[in-house]
Amino acid sequence: MAASPAGVDSDFTRRLPKIELHAHLTGSISRACLHDIWQQKSARDPALDLEDPLVAIPHGKVDYDIKTFFPLFSSYIYKLCNDMTSIEYSTKAVLEEFQADGVVYLELRTTPRAIPEQNITKDDYVWTILDIINAHNEDPNNTMRAHLILSIDRRNTATEANEVVDLALKHALVGVVGVDLCGNPAQGDVLLFADAFARVKASGLRITLHFAETEASASDEELSTLLSWQPDRLGHVIHVKNEFQEAIKKQNIGVELCLSCNVHAKMITGSYSDHHFGVWRHSSVPVALCTDDVGVFCSPLSQEFLLAAEHFGLGKKQLKELCERAIPSIFSGEEEQARLREVYSTFEC
Ligand code: IMP
Ligand code: ZN
Repeated sequence: MAASPAGVDSDFTRRLPKIELHAHLTGSISRACLHDIWQQKSARDPALDLEDPLVAIPHGKVDYDIKTFFPLFSSYIYKLCNDMTSIEYSTKAVLEEFQADGVVYLELRTTPRAIPEQNITKDDYVWTILDIINAHNEDPNNTMRAHLILSIDRRNTATEANEVVDLALKHALVGVVGVDLCGNPAQGDVLLFADAFARVKASGLRITLHFAETEASASDEELSTLLSWQPDRLGHVIHVKNEFQEAIKKQNIGVELCLSCNVHAKMITGSYSDHHFGVWRHSSVPVALCTDDVGVFCSPLSQEFLLAAEHFGLGKKQLKELCERAIPSIFSGEEEQARLREVYSTFEC
């Protein structure tokens, strides 16, 4: 690994107040937390037919790629976190872990999930998570403020996508700040969601889209369609040719960049120093370093900043400026922007 510029170490990047804008709730649950849930469930139900998470997702295994990553959720994590107790427990743990890592502002995203065998509707799911987020925000001991983005999955039908938008609009005043498009980039037809995202735009809620994650999801048609929805931010932006890079710059769209996720999942060619953060950091658009799925790729945001320092030669002041660069692209409005500006004005490198 390349050496860090003088003085940048893990203590500094943990202490640095950080802004996390691209984190999937279920992908952010740590293995230790999944293991706790599994132990609690096994104690209640000795016949539980699910492997221990420490066996199913071994410590140190981070080489999930586009083929193995998505099934991890559908065939394991969603089966484990399939009741209110586990959803509440894991959401609290995720918030605590981001805060303990020095995150001061978090936009967490999640795909509304109904669990009919537990009589849980998508609305119940969203309410429960918002209750936990709001309780976290109201606790004066907490230094991090969190907000929620609801995700449309690429496998959704147009009706399901509109249902996510309905939920986002319903909960807009109590913590939902935007709508995301996520899911397996090898699947789905984004044209189906034009109406849903037009409704989001018209409502004043913000839009973030997974954009050009793989070559399969980076055709000119797809990227033109996604940009025509006037997104406020884009996630990953990997396979983006010049013409689209210029459009992103012209529209001043914020980019959410995920170093470890892209390297471990082999979504980019090469390693950290080849990451397109090296290109976007020289642009004028808002840039946010993000974790994506810290539970899977095991690199907390403080580690992502350390990697940026090591591989792109950033010093303490530059890392602080990089954090501040994300402020204009947050989804929650002027009050939070002012709070964050104040946080950075008093932070001494
Ligand atoms: P959830 O939405 O809270 O359940 O978080 C997990 C879900 O996020 C997964 O099932 C995927 O649909 C989505 N997700 C997580 N990481 C990625 C990614 O890198 N690309 C696209 N979708 C993702
Ligand atoms: Zn993502």
